[in-house]
Amino acid sequence: MINLLLRTALAGALLCFIASAHGGVSAAQSLAATCANCHGTNGRLPTPEAVPPLAGRSAEWIRQQLTAFRNYARPSTVMQQIVRGYSDEEIALIADCLARNGD
Ligand code: HEC
Repeated sequence: MINLLLRTALAGALLCFIASAHGGVSAAQSLAATCANCHGTNGRLPTPEAVPPLAGRSAEWIRQQLTAFRNYARPSTVMQQIVRGYSDEEIALIADCLARNGD
């Protein structure tokens, strides 16, 4: 399980790295890599009942959820803690990066 999570995190970081080479979003690469620890590679998880998968979600939807967590508009156990330090710009970068990985 630990191995799988590590591999999915690394693969997610790699995919964002490729995206950064073409899209110039290297900041997003490192920001979004932290999400893969719980949400998995490309937003797909072996245990979706524990953490919701992000695969197939649009950048705009992810951005809205993160903003809602940060503003206490959406209740959460851990997400509010995770996003409260991110700026609007960083949230947009993360959302774009993850939405590309969900393809
Ligand atoms: C420590 C594990 C963990 C990490 C790291 C994490 N998440 Fe989450 N995420 C969760 C859990 C658990 C939920 C369910 C809501 C809650 O209880 O916080 C969630 C919910 C979400 C949702 C809403 C999904 C839905 O279907 O409603 C989004 C979007 C999201 N996370 C994005 C992110 C992003 C982007 C990152 C990286 C910046 C991230 N998460 C990092 C555990 C995590």
